Amino acid sequence: MVTAVKKSGTLRINEQVKALRTAGKQVYHFGFGQSPFPVHPRIIQALSEHTPYGHYLSTGGLMMLREALSDFLKRYQGISFPPERLFIGPGSKILLQQIIYLLEARFLIPQGSWVSYIPQILIRGGHYEIIPTRLSDQYKVRPEVLDAIAKKYVDDQLVLILNSPNNPTGAVYSSEELKAVARVAERYGMIILSDEIYTQLDFNNDFSPSMAPIYPDGTIVFGGLSKLFSAGGYRLGFVGIPQRLSQLISPLLALISETYSAVSTPIQYGAVVAYQDYEQIKPSIDQQKAVLKHAFSVVARELKEAGVRLTSSQGGFYCVVDFEPYRNVLRKNGILNAIDLTQILLDQYDVALLPGQDFAFERNTLTCRLAFVDFDGAAVLRRWDKHPDALEAVFDQTAPQIRKGAQSIAEFLYALNGV
Ligand SMILES: Cc1ncc(COP(=O)(O)O)c(C=O)c1O
Repeated sequence: MVTAVKKSGTLRINEQVKALRTAGKQVYHFGFGQSPFPVHPRIIQALSEHTPYGHYLSTGGLMMLREALSDFLKRYQGISFPPERLFIGPGSKILLQQIIYLLEARFLIPQGSWVSYIPQILIRGGHYEIIPTRLSDQYKVRPEVLDAIAKKYVDDQLVLILNSPNNPTGAVYSSEELKAVARVAERYGMIILSDEIYTQLDFNNDFSPSMAPIYPDGTIVFGGLSKLFSAGGYRLGFVGIPQRLSQLISPLLALISETYSAVSTPIQYGAVVAYQDYEQIKPSIDQQKAVLKHAFSVVARELKEAGVRLTSSQGGFYCVVDFEPYRNVLRKNGILNAIDLTQILLDQYDVALLPGQDFAFERNTLTCRLAFVDFDGAAVLRRWDKHPDALEAVFDQTAPQIRKGAQSIAEFLYALNGV
């Protein structure tokens, strides 16, 4: 039995929110991390046209999809992967898990990393080291810290898991920052698993820089439909494996054939259109990004006023809120860490945040992840269409719960201060 993997704080909070909502209670759910926007009609149409396709596809994925993906990556991210080195899975999560499973290595996990990496390493009985990070750097990996850790394990194959735009911090690595990390990686022959699932959801650019062209021999890239195309429930992701790591391909295909066999056939055909018709879909994605950027600014304004610190989200759905300035007064109220904090916020202020412990922060951390996407994205876009110059008013009218939820956190802090 795999006993190392425990039920996470994330799961616990999500279950509690579900139960509260079923009981008819209003909850400001900042724990929820999926796209609030609808799937684009072109993708829905392509999917429905292919529902009669009931046969299995080949293990690595539909070649037409792998070709469309290869063109898309080249054109929109400057990444060169031939279709033969791109593989399709039911979400990037399982592909990450399968690659982690196949690597005999010591994994390096930056503080401020997605919840599933460590459990996936533990499932295979693997070893990992946490890379300390700081809010003042947006919790990004500092090359000198990476170097110091790598030096301790020169005899091991090291694998760094990097995610940009980042869940939970919203940080985006610049090309220069990626190059500095790559220089250290090269020195130690590291493999980098570059989780680029949020890449086109960069608020300030068409896409965030990819590690693959910067460190082409050692980077395995992950992505998929879930975030960019608002289709997490379609379950389609991909992995790109570089030439130098080709030895992974045949065990990966063996694992796929012994587990999920192949991704659903109609979904793969739907995905072809998502990648091929990106030019037509992009204007609506650009609008979505403007709404997401605005949602973050609403939350940030309220929370900064209340005196907490937070990351500056540059892409994706999240930011990290650090309640450290309140540590003393929180302690006096019996709140010692983010787990206590998220529980009291849910019980007394109807706000769900996720504790930083699940994102590789220390045990006594007061950091929490806040997802600013629990709103009806289709309704916001419809109303914005009618009032193109009034996003702020449109958002406040259509998604008032985002501001109210942030205000509820502020109220909790003011109450602690006795204001
Ligand atoms: C950072 C990160 N990586 C990977 C995934 C997995 O996405 P999917 O399996 O839907 O492709 C998620 C989903 O929440 C994520 O936030």
